[in-house]
Amino acid sequence: MKIAGQLCRTIWPQADMTVGIIDQTVLPHRLVRLTLSNLAEAAHAIADMQVRGAPLIGVTAAYGLALALRARADDRAMELAIETLAATRPTAVNLRWALERLRAGFLPLAASARADAAWAMAADMAEEDVAVCSTIGDHGLALIEEIARAKSGGRVNILTHCNAGWLATVDWGTATAPIYKAYDKGIDLHVLVDETRPRNQGAALTAFELGHHGVSHDVIVDNAGGHYMQRGEIDIVIVGTDRTTRQGDVCNKIGTYLKALAAHDNGVPFYVAAPSSSIDFALRDGLTEIPIEERHAREVTHLTGETEGGTLATIRVTPQGSGARNPAFDVTPARLVSGLITERGIVGANEAALRSAFSDCI
Ligand code: MRU
Repeated sequence: MKIAGQLCRTIWPQADMTVGIIDQTVLPHRLVRLTLSNLAEAAHAIADMQVRGAPLIGVTAAYGLALALRARADDRAMELAIETLAATRPTAVNLRWALERLRAGFLPLAASARADAAWAMAADMAEEDVAVCSTIGDHGLALIEEIARAKSGGRVNILTHCNAGWLATVDWGTATAPIYKAYDKGIDLHVLVDETRPRNQGAALTAFELGHHGVSHDVIVDNAGGHYMQRGEIDIVIVGTDRTTRQGDVCNKIGTYLKALAAHDNGVPFYVAAPSSSIDFALRDGLTEIPIEERHAREVTHLTGETEGGTLATIRVTPQGSGARNPAFDVTPARLVSGLITERGIVGANEAALRSAFSDCI
């Protein structure tokens, strides 16, 4: 995708065997590129959310492991590196998926061959993520086209939550891929972007990327989605996922569940863009089995933004002494999900449909 007309990815290998990333903690106010040179920097980038979004976390972990193996590639060092990276964020299953895949690939190799193999596997994983997201875009495009046809070419209004855009993947995004494909095809569409407190991934990141691509959008507060659904101003909700179980329960950014409830009550289709790397075939019941990351209270009690004078500033929005709780994700039960937009097509959010589409993974 593009920033100011320049093609960009969220992560890229550099000639000196380091890894480039965009620091997402300062977007949309600053566009800062960082270099990751070792395991500690990669783990910090994930934990501190310089990179975030389930697919991008997975690819960053893969590169992080490759960087670690450049320093030491014996079994013990490798396991320690995997443990360090896996501990950075507990909910997105892509992290473990990526690390397990790399481990299986280079475990049989001699220690001396592991670093190069890991580097190549991380690069392949990044390319695969781009292809998967693009295919999700093609499948989701069909849903948007159907709505456009039903409205006789009238504007299609889409609600999305958090950032499941290209900044959350290597390119294209998951939930945004159908939007970009529809926009590129000339379909008249408008996106309502949930601000997504506490970290404002919608207001800061989704709005940033939609704006750079030229997609018409408005940021709304998290509480406004239900109101617009009641007024018939939302035709479809498309969100991403950090972990979807084999019965189709969807774990995604906190607040997704409330949008699904409102969509259900108002007969608005609620779709989840879910690459297979985000599906945890080992789990069935999302509510009891998915670990939910609890982040620091400061993300709730404080806000960071740009002042009118152009400096970045952090302010407190709660009284001194008030506590805060900060679950980063919630679980939307499968019964509220109209379908999963996967790289293998639109799949029902239920075990039978997932088994049939992913028989080789279950
Ligand atoms: O905490 P974040 O910003 O990593 O959470 C991101 C989300 O919840 C996304 O919706 C999800 O990872 C899907 S990304 C394609």
